[in-house]
Amino acid sequence: MCGIVGYIGDREAQDILIKGLSRLEYRGYDSSGVAVVNGHLEVRKKEGKIARLSDDLSNKTLEGKLGIGHTRWATHGAPNDTNAHPHVSTDGSFALVHNGIIENYTALRDMLSSRGYSFQSQTDTEVLVRLIEDVIKETGLSLGKAVRQALSQVQGTYGIALVTEKDPDMLIAARKGSPLILGVGDGEYFLGSDAAPIVEYTRKVVYLNDGELVIVRRKGFKVFSVDDVKLDKTIHELEWDLEQIEKGGYEHFMLKEIMEQPTALENAMRGRLYEEDPFVQLGGLMDSIHRLRNADRIILCACGTSWHAALVGEYLIEAWARIPVEVEYASEFRYRNPILREGDAVLVISQSGETADTLAAVREAQRQSIPVYGICNTVGSTIARETDAGVYLHAGPEIGVASTKAFTAQVTILAQLALKLAKEHQMADDELRQIVTELKAIPGKIAEVLENASCVEQIAKTFRYASNFLYLGRGANFPVALEGALKLKEISYIHAEGYPAAEMKHGPIALIDRFMPVVFIAMQDSTYEKVVSNIEEVVARDGVVIVVTDAEEGQLDELCEHVIRIPKTHEMLSPLLTVIPLQLLSYYIAVLRGCDVDQPRNLAKSVTVE
Ligand code: G6P
Repeated sequence: MCGIVGYIGDREAQDILIKGLSRLEYRGYDSSGVAVVNGHLEVRKKEGKIARLSDDLSNKTLEGKLGIGHTRWATHGAPNDTNAHPHVSTDGSFALVHNGIIENYTALRDMLSSRGYSFQSQTDTEVLVRLIEDVIKETGLSLGKAVRQALSQVQGTYGIALVTEKDPDMLIAARKGSPLILGVGDGEYFLGSDAAPIVEYTRKVVYLNDGELVIVRRKGFKVFSVDDVKLDKTIHELEWDLEQIEKGGYEHFMLKEIMEQPTALENAMRGRLYEEDPFVQLGGLMDSIHRLRNADRIILCACGTSWHAALVGEYLIEAWARIPVEVEYASEFRYRNPILREGDAVLVISQSGETADTLAAVREAQRQSIPVYGICNTVGSTIARETDAGVYLHAGPEIGVASTKAFTAQVTILAQLALKLAKEHQMADDELRQIVTELKAIPGKIAEVLENASCVEQIAKTFRYASNFLYLGRGANFPVALEGALKLKEISYIHAEGYPAAEMKHGPIALIDRFMPVVFIAMQDSTYEKVVSNIEEVVARDGVVIVVTDAEEGQLDELCEHVIRIPKTHEMLSPLLTVIPLQLLSYYIAVLRGCDVDQPRNLAKSVTVE
């Protein structure tokens, strides 16, 4: 949510900033801007996509080897040129970009107005700029120290970066709640909200923690704590490479990421899954398995698509390991004063590892002295660092705002965890072996589903103008129905609802008519006959049915207008296959409707504000 970049070194900053912003555009894309220092400070900002700012800059280049940039997802104030970042001090000497929310900005603004400061924008960020000015005016402190002092008066979250024309060899950044990474080059440094803008130039990075401020000069950098103590920081090596964050010939990141799922899942299982004892090895959780196995209750916490993966996880862990599981929206969990007991374990799931609500859930559990484990994709992310132990997805960077490969990789990790816990719970080796073999076969079966993408594209053509969709599934495919509906909503703006198939008769059946497509997941599992009865009920009311199934040709082809056939697998693993046509359906419908698939309106990939 909002992306920040920064550069200090010997190269021209403008291109690095613009390229970096484009790579962060999935974090927010309603306006953008840059500030570059070259003797004096120059700022350029534009409402709309980064391409508009880039066009503007190509007409009149900003020269300078120090700069910051920002791509915005509006919180306070409409997306327009004035509210876009950077925001500049009254004397025009320094500029600041900000990701996060200053919660006490109204009180600060009133205080600063009464002291004679004026404001051009409606943003909370400009208030922080004026506050820093005020501290400098009152105390005569240097910019770095004034920033620290101003931040001590701020409630809320921030990742900020500043440059000043008074010191062309200094880039300042600080964080609390919003991620920031410093890329360490040779005589040059790169700042980013995540690794995407940095990886092209260096793999060496320093992760800033909450409450830390860094002063970067061409000769080196110094990190300080809130109370001004100099800290030693470890330099980490990035795992990503450049190719992974580029489209690689695909029209959209989302399609690339859908197609990457066979490889992503192989990576999520590599070195972890065996057809012999120990069957599953999750290195990151090695010392915690016993604790999880003996938990009275496992609470899975997440947001969005990761929450849907958690719901599948509930089915898997309860079925195989027989441990009670509860699934919580992180945003509810954090404010509910949740009752946690000694025997509980909390497991959070987050692709980005930066979602503010999920991070708050981690901290709430820790506050109550409950162990917290994490399943994250982004290596070195805040959640990955703050949880007691965890597992990485190794799915590679996910850039499309609608999550696809992260979902299937999360389910793959949860399936492995459930099997590990089941082994501890005495599941018979033969059964374990059979499930492991099936799990290992999933990437190949996903590849088969993907080969059939054109069938889904045809169905998308038929339904591109629909205004409402209903998605129905049972058991572990109920969360897939939710996920299918979410994908469609997110990128095509069609209203869609997911329901457990049997709940249809308690409400959604009233909506059914010949204009509303109903997508059924009807795998030949323990509830197949019941789902077929639900299909009959829809057809009897003139509903139009699209069905995803592993059943042979026959009954369903007579009943349903559109049948998407997928391979058979173990009942509990079928979400890994059934979700694929639903991802494709939403993708093709969105493309046919001319929607911006990778950057749907109002959404952001990484939600670092509440
Ligand atoms: C946003 C994204 C979703 C994602 C959710 C949770 O809403 O648009 O795709 O599922 O955040 O993100 P996380 O990174 O915690 O999995």
